[in-house]
Amino acid sequence: MLGPVSFRILGIETSCDETAAAVVDDGHHVRSNVVHSQIALHARWRGVVPEVASRSHTERILPIVEQALADAGCTPAGLDAIAVTHRPGMIGCLLVGLAAAKALAWRFDRPLIGVDHVQAHVHTGFLADPAMPLPALALVASGGHTALYLVTAPGRSERLGTTRDDAAGEALDKGAALLGLSYPGGPSIEAAAANGNPRAFDLPRTLLGADSLDFSFSGVKTALLYTLRPQGAPAPAGLPEGQRLADLAASYQEAVVDVLVLKLRRAAERHPVRALCIGGGVARNRRLRQRLADDPQLRALRLVLPDPSLCADNGAMIAGLASVAFRNGDFAPLDLDAIATPQSGGKAKQRP
Ligand code: KG4
Ligand code: ZN
Repeated sequence: MLGPVSFRILGIETSCDETAAAVVDDGHHVRSNVVHSQIALHARWRGVVPEVASRSHTERILPIVEQALADAGCTPAGLDAIAVTHRPGMIGCLLVGLAAAKALAWRFDRPLIGVDHVQAHVHTGFLADPAMPLPALALVASGGHTALYLVTAPGRSERLGTTRDDAAGEALDKGAALLGLSYPGGPSIEAAAANGNPRAFDLPRTLLGADSLDFSFSGVKTALLYTLRPQGAPAPAGLPEGQRLADLAASYQEAVVDVLVLKLRRAAERHPVRALCIGGGVARNRRLRQRLADDPQLRALRLVLPDPSLCADNGAMIAGLASVAFRNGDFAPLDLDAIATPQSGGKAKQRP
């Protein structure tokens, strides 16, 4: 039986192309988690168009919040705080969620909590496993970010490495475009790779020297381009098909996954961690999850692989991380700003 709820937070997320809201009790009981994806709106451009995204957020935000409250069986008056992503992201998109959160906080006289989106992905492990042993490694791999964190407490982390060019999801999105696969690229490459041989094509793994915990994915994308259109050769007649497409997709996915796994192994060698968690859209990838579970070094740690619905952008991770600020009484003023950039140094503080 569930004990009494001590606090209940509404989390709102509109930083990119998902309009999302969720109600979370006591920092980890996800009572509702409603996400409206704009993928169909942006697919023809193969990327998120900021103006189109913010207009769609404006249309969807109130129904999504209402749905999250209805699914959780509560009213705004039953909330203890309103949390919202206020950084990083597309500024017009952030402003929509922020305006909704401020209006609710003002109207119902509830505290407002500003949350860093990347830190919320880092925190996803605690939603999946509130007793996650610490310190833990967290990999955040999405369309906009790819970074490794050392998590020492809920809401407290140190960034160990980040991408120097493309994010892992961005590399998959761009690779899919080269292969003629649909946007977003991560899921379409995963599907196309199902019957492919991951060793059919020899694509590079950029490790940036023996010590680096940074990432670089621009080289593998260029290598795929030249595999498809060798320099000096005539342009190919058409896009790859059949087994060749499957082998290319599998080899490309494997090259991206290999780098993520190798960097996690490297970080685990250097830091005495007890757990490993993953977040961000790329963390939905089944090959990555399989590789982590099969890895003799990494599976010795507590592997926290959150449900895919918690990996892509969502409101539950926002409410989850906000629980740390709530417990500390760290509330934001009603003139809280939207900020396009992530927190400097990757430290998990709640306020700018
Ligand atoms: O976290 P997210 O939903 O939004 C950002 O904050 O970027 O991540 C979106 C990214 C896209 O690049 C997409 O291709 C990738 O996550 N992605 C995947 C999978 N599902 C989404 N990558 C690999 N495998 C998947 N199954
Ligand atoms: Zn994200």
